[in-house]
Amino acid sequence: MDILRTKKEIRAWRSAATGRVALVPTMGSFHEGHLSLMRTARALADHVVVSLFVNPIQFGPTEDLSRYPRDLEHDEALASDLGVDVLFVPTVEEMYPQPQETYAYWPSLGSVLCGRTRPDHFRGVGTVVIKLFNLTSPHVVPFGRKDGQQVLLIERLVRELDLDIEIVACPTVRDVDGLAMSSRNGYLSPADRVQAVGIYAGLSAAKVLIENGERRSAAIRNEMSTLMGKYPGLGVEYCDVVSRDSLKPVDALDHRSMLAVAARVGTTRLIDNLWVVGTEGDLRVEL
Ligand code: PAF
Repeated sequence: MDILRTKKEIRAWRSAATGRVALVPTMGSFHEGHLSLMRTARALADHVVVSLFVNPIQFGPTEDLSRYPRDLEHDEALASDLGVDVLFVPTVEEMYPQPQETYAYWPSLGSVLCGRTRPDHFRGVGTVVIKLFNLTSPHVVPFGRKDGQQVLLIERLVRELDLDIEIVACPTVRDVDGLAMSSRNGYLSPADRVQAVGIYAGLSAAKVLIENGERRSAAIRNEMSTLMGKYPGLGVEYCDVVSRDSLKPVDALDHRSMLAVAARVGTTRLIDNLWVVGTEGDLRVEL
């Protein structure tokens, strides 16, 4: 596996690469969720590039940029074992040699759900993702469904800016207790972890309700809130049934809906999203 650190190096590698290229954008601290995206990338392309960059412009001033977990040696070993071809690990100075004035953002879709409490988050994500796309010219890019709003915004960006890139929304990988894999899970104490699992409890209860035929969003939201309310350490920020097109709450569930939750446990903010799929007569909820 090549480890490349500069834009010049990655561009030179890309112009020499033939065949299909997959990019897996990450902020490192790899867990099974990242590894499953890398496996998907491996299956879909001839070359796999993984970018590892803790992107400062997607963190708010009071957020966890400085304590965000970093473990390059561990990440290098995992990526190399998985058959990744290139690990792109630029510095902040390499990615942002001058204060950024140009951004990609979504004025309305980026200001709902997570955008309500993280106002500049998605413009930071959109901007770095466009830069990574331009540096690596990928054919295909997998993202996790757990970060539902992120992947939907990027699908929209690709469509509306005419980028010839396939975005693949991949299933969430969960730990044995059901908690969606996230680099931020490492912040949780054992006691926090017990509370965090309340998110999964809420979503699982909603899934059962839906699979038993419930379609009214109010009833589904109620069930999620009731379950999560049993976990006193869980500070729910939002818990909603939204459309994957408008990201707005819907009255009744359909095959384009998403159950969206963000909650805090102590100082750790966690999100989880379940996608409703299938056909009108046979709706399923992906855990
Ligand atoms: O999902 C992430 O890890 C980040 O938001 C991403 C897409 C790598 C952009 O920094």
